[in-house]
Amino acid sequence: MAARTLARLECWPMAHLEQRYPNLHVSSHPLVAHKLTLLRDKGTAPKQFRELVRELSWLIGYEAMADLTTRPMGVETPLEVMEGAELEPRVGLVPVLRAGLGMVDAMLELMPTSQVWHIGLYRDERTLKPVEYYNKLPDAATVQVCLILDPMLATGGSSAATVDILKAWGAARIKQVSLIAAPEGIATLSEAHPDVDIHVCAVDRALNDRGYIEPGLGDAGDRQFGTFAGPASEPGHPSDETAEIVRRLQRTLAVD
Ligand code: PRP
Ligand code: URA
Repeated sequence: MAARTLARLECWPMAHLEQRYPNLHVSSHPLVAHKLTLLRDKGTAPKQFRELVRELSWLIGYEAMADLTTRPMGVETPLEVMEGAELEPRVGLVPVLRAGLGMVDAMLELMPTSQVWHIGLYRDERTLKPVEYYNKLPDAATVQVCLILDPMLATGGSSAATVDILKAWGAARIKQVSLIAAPEGIATLSEAHPDVDIHVCAVDRALNDRGYIEPGLGDAGDRQFGTFAGPASEPGHPSDETAEIVRRLQRTLAVD
């Protein structure tokens, strides 16, 4: 690919973001970098896209759970009895519909006893605000650790709204697990909820005028489910109102 067509990634130096937001954890694993590159490719068709989402979820999920506590558990091997370990907290997986659905199976492979609680949110494409349309949470929290699963952390609006819902539910500890984040979304979520760890495969350059992550991968829901709806749903047609909302977010990120 010609050098001039490569997207620049130097806008927000990673060290700066990681210093400003100590809750941010960005994978440096070579397998993650490799698979994410395939995922971004506009030529990757939905079947392979879904497989890659699943594989990347496994890898980033493994990293996100590195600090979960264990308690001692006895186990008898064919040779002797020894003290092993079992995962201590009850874990809830919270996929944000639709795109988060593609991350669930991999996480269930890692933690088959997890509970899965679905939250339905879509982002209003004009205001970029999240709109809740589905919530099956019971009255009180049934788990100690919640992992929010959503491939894209763009403005951070959907994620911050999900954390609000989970905190009102009584979730004690919450982690956001995403594939790609924009600096603007990291700022929004971290400033609203500094106690929430953010685990991502990569942090990209910035949002465009429509609130899409650049270079990103386009629309994660459409690419997984093959629902690209034509030019009107392309991530590249700005409206003045949406562009101003994005500029406001970027000004907030730039101060202090
Ligand atoms: C996407 C994505 C996130 C949200 C991120 O969902 O999966 O939920 O946008 O954007 P934000 O950080 O600016 O809130 P979308 O609204 O496209 O819904 P979908 O998954 O049903 O396609
Ligand atoms: N949602 C997506 O699927 N992609 C983006 O870049 C932003 C929001």
